[in-house]
This record gives sequence, structure tokens and C-alpha cells, in this order.
Amino acid sequence: MVDPITKLSVSHLSKRFETLEVLRDISVDVHRGEFISIVGPSGCGKTTFLRIVGGLETGATGDVRLDGRSITGPGSDRGFVFQQDNLLPWRTVLDNVEIGPEIGGWRNAEQRVKTLKLLKLVGLAGFEKYYPRQLSGGMRQRVNLARALAVDPELLLMDEPFSALDAQTREIMQTELLRVWEEGRKTVLFVTHQIDEAVYLSDRVFVFARRPGRINEIVEIDLPRPRPLSLKRTPKFVEYVDHIWKLIEDDVRASVLEEHA
Ligand SMILES: Nc1ncnc2c1ncn2[C@@H]1O[C@H](COP(=O)(O)OP(=O)(O)OP(=O)(O)O)[C@@H](O)[C@H]1O
Ligand SMILES: [Mg+2]
Repeated sequence: MVDPITKLSVSHLSKRFETLEVLRDISVDVHRGEFISIVGPSGCGKTTFLRIVGGLETGATGDVRLDGRSITGPGSDRGFVFQQDNLLPWRTVLDNVEIGPEIGGWRNAEQRVKTLKLLKLVGLAGFEKYYPRQLSGGMRQRVNLARALAVDPELLLMDEPFSALDAQTREIMQTELLRVWEEGRKTVLFVTHQIDEAVYLSDRVFVFARRPGRINEIVEIDLPRPRPLSLKRTPKFVEYVDHIWKLIEDDVRASVLEEHA
């Protein structure tokens, strides 16, 4: 087997917000082209972790390197997709997708060809002139994904991107995301609360424990690709889901009780 190339290297990462210790001594490597999901109870620091890798959060200790270079701030080598689409309502689909190239100063004819290809890839060919209000939630999240891909990032950071969608649209988006990912093989960090989503999408799942956030276990998902949705009904798939649920069950209960205390 060929040695995997390390894309992202996190060593001894810790983070506190004043007195609150959020992440403690996280060390983990992500290989180039890998699809990683992060699961864990609410408040365990998943978003904080993603924001640190995105260069949006300062004050962490330890070292986070992308292709061997320390991350010091945001950059076009990383693309973000958040839970809520943050499309600009006054811009068309096309203009929203080309925001990154516009800011970067390379919004030209060559980019236009790429943008149209991306829109086709996410199933939105023909919707270039639509405004966000004319789209469904699933379509808006596709625009969001196309926008993140338009800067051709090395690393795609996705924070619960499908959580606002209904169950059926969400399943479709999962298969669509895998299809898009198979084409470009970006390295992906994907945060989700849905364990079956994590298992379905990922090569490995990082299971976070709470207070302070640490990696409890890394679960390697040994399921063949491409993955049809029917895979979710196979015993091996269900075993993975059960295993991960058992790892976080106590933490989830504790965090829910705390929220309602
Ligand atoms: N800017 C901030 N200032 C102070 N505390 C913060 C800040 N951002 C996050 N926290 C705290 O850090 C902890 C981790 O938050 P984070 O958003 O990373 O959790 P999470 O795992 O993404 O949770 P969820 O699953 O609910 O999205 C929480 O206790 C939160 O209150
Ligand atoms: Mg979060």
C-alpha cells in the first residue's frame, strides 16, 4: 500500500475560552483526499475545532499544519460550508458562487467555465440567474457547496451543512456530496450530529468526548465505495452506527440534561 500523504496535521491542540477549557490536547492527522466526519455531544468543541483549522479562531495552543505549513489565518486553501447557507439575497446563484473568485481577483472567462461546470456538478445547471429566495433549502445548500468549491480549496470544512434540511432531502444531499467528492477528492472535515450520516460519508469518524473536548476514538469505516443508500440497511453499517452511538451515549445524555437543568 502507498503511504498516505498527510494533508492536515494537528498536534497537541488545546483551546480555552477564558476559564472554559474547550479542547484538550488533540493530536490527529488527516490524509489527502480523506473524508473525515466529526461527531460528539453538543458543546464538545466540534465547531471550535473546525474554526481553528479554518483559521477563524485564535488563541489556541499547539500546532495545526496544512501541507506542512502552520495555519495562521483564513485562506483560499480552505472552503467553509456552514449549517445555515449564508448566500447574499441580492445576488444571483452565479454571482453568489463567484464571490470567492471576485474577492480573489480572478473572476474571468476561464473562471466562468469552471463555475458553470460546478453548478452542473451540484445539479443546478439552468438556475444561474435565480435568486436565493427562489430556491428550496436543498438547492441553497448546493449553491453554498458550489461556492465553497469555486475557490478550489484543498480542504473543505463543513459544519452540519444538512441539518436544516428535511430527512429525504438530506439523504439525497449525502449521495450528491459523495458524488461531487468522488470527482475531485478534496480532503473533507464534516461535522454532524447524525451518526448514520457520518458512517455513510466517511473514511474515518473522529468521535469527540466532552468537557474538555478530546478525541475518544477514531473509527475506520471499512465499507466499499461507491456507496448506495441501501448500504445503510446492511448489518455492517448498523454495527458501525451502534458502536459510535455507544461511545457518545453517556456524554450526549449528560449534555442534554445539562441544557435542561
Ligand atoms: N466565542 C466563544 N466564546 C466563549 N465560549 C465559546 C465561544 N464559542 C464557543 N464557546 C463555548 O465552547 C464550547 C464548545 O462550543 P462549540 O460550538 O465548539 O461546540 P459544538 O461541539 O460545535 O456544539 P454543537 O454540537 O452544539 O454545535 C461551548 O461550551 C461553547 O459555549
Ligand atoms: Mg457546532
